[in-house]
Amino acid sequence: MPPETLETCRQSDAVLLAAIGGYKWDSLPRAQRPETGLLGLRAGLELFANLRPATILPQLIDASSLKRDVIEGVDIMVVRELTGGFYFGQPRCVFEADGDQLGCYTMADSGSEIDRIGRVAFEAAQKRQGRLCSVDKANVLEVSQLWRDRITALATDYGNVDLSHMYVDNAAMQLLRWPKQFDTIVTGNLFGDILSDAAAMLTGSIGMLPSASLGSSGPGVFEPVHGSAPDIAGEDKANPLAQVLSAAMMLRYGLSQPQAADMIETAVNTVLDQGYRTGDIMADGMTAVGCKAMGQALLQALG
Ligand code: IPM
Ligand code: MG
Repeated sequence: MPPETLETCRQSDAVLLAAIGGYKWDSLPRAQRPETGLLGLRAGLELFANLRPATILPQLIDASSLKRDVIEGVDIMVVRELTGGFYFGQPRCVFEADGDQLGCYTMADSGSEIDRIGRVAFEAAQKRQGRLCSVDKANVLEVSQLWRDRITALATDYGNVDLSHMYVDNAAMQLLRWPKQFDTIVTGNLFGDILSDAAAMLTGSIGMLPSASLGSSGPGVFEPVHGSAPDIAGEDKANPLAQVLSAAMMLRYGLSQPQAADMIETAVNTVLDQGYRTGDIMADGMTAVGCKAMGQALLQALG
């Protein structure tokens, strides 16, 4: 269960967003692509903290590609920095140089940006099992060394949190090797994007993972971790549960209605207990349903 409130993030309103993107927009100029709009929303609303809980539900253990003893009981919160790093660093361009092309990008996180996401992560860890793993690439990148130094300095304010550090390549491996070692993970924008997809697969399907994007005030944005799955668009095959669980996170964090959030999360548990499964989480002996039927089952479970 995600922490109910975080001191650093006070939402006054909420936006629930569906996954965006698709083939028909892939060739548009970058400025017109849906992803650019999403990034503009995150930056414009200063939603620097992205909470991505990856919890394995007992009903879905057999849907995971990993062994039962590896994933049973996994409960990880990935706290991803959302408005800095590679995604927003300047300069970024592709230019011609000496008869070749050069792609140029910048990974930039200021000390204050690292501190504010660090505080969210320490607070989240305090409300969970008290273990925080900060993921970086400090053996190669100076910006990651700054990240490590700032996070380490913050630890003095959170004496009850056990802080560790891990390089991102090792973290990717450890997530698959023994995910139960993780409680709360804090990391930068790009590393968080990648690791949260990996963490999603521990739960059986990325179709199960919700997220909350929070700032220090103003509205939060709540969206599933997965993409828009254009390959199955219109086929009534998609798993709606990540989207529905994102609505629960919206109620919990954005609208301060934890009881309504609990009701939705309970309904999700109920339909899984009843054996309903979309294709991505289907297992032997379960009832295969499409997106609409799963929605109907949820409505019934909500009463
Ligand atoms: C995510 C998505 C987005 C990201 C895309 C759609 C821009 O992958 O929310 O994880 O990279 O942040
Ligand atoms: Mg992603």
